[in-house]
Amino acid sequence: MPIHAGLRAACVLVCLAAGAAVAQQGPPEFRGADLKLGERLIVESKCAACHQKKVGGDGSAIYRPAGRIGTAGALRGMVEQCNTELNLGLFPEEVTAIAAVLNRDHYKFK
Ligand code: HEC
Repeated sequence: MPIHAGLRAACVLVCLAAGAAVAQQGPPEFRGADLKLGERLIVESKCAACHQKKVGGDGSAIYRPAGRIGTAGALRGMVEQCNTELNLGLFPEEVTAIAAVLNRDHYKFK
């Protein structure tokens, strides 16, 4: 393999890995959010398990980008509200991480 192609492949891999871990795009609210942490917390907090009971499928139908949540701030607020109501005891940066993952996968606010 020519050296340049090898280097470029390595760079792409490193850049993808970095991009997957920390939000570098999207709304200012979520910049620097720890996406890996958010993904883990969504699983650990059983968010989907409960949502599934309500909407079926994998539970993701509960996330309605065109519904009442219209901004990144409102999305974060909703996660904060669940945190309080369900007594999840999440820290603010954990709430942000979860909201950032939901935004990346479902709401896609810019
Ligand atoms: C005990 C059940 C339960 C758990 C656990 C739960 N939720 Fe929910 N969640 C609901 C219900 C019910 C609704 C829908 C409320 C409605 O439609 O009025 C909802 C709605 C939402 C919405 C709003 C969706 C929209 O677009 O309107 C978000 C965001 C959300 N939940 C995030 C979370 C996250 C993140 C977690 C885990 C940290 C979580 N929820 C855990 C029951 C739960």
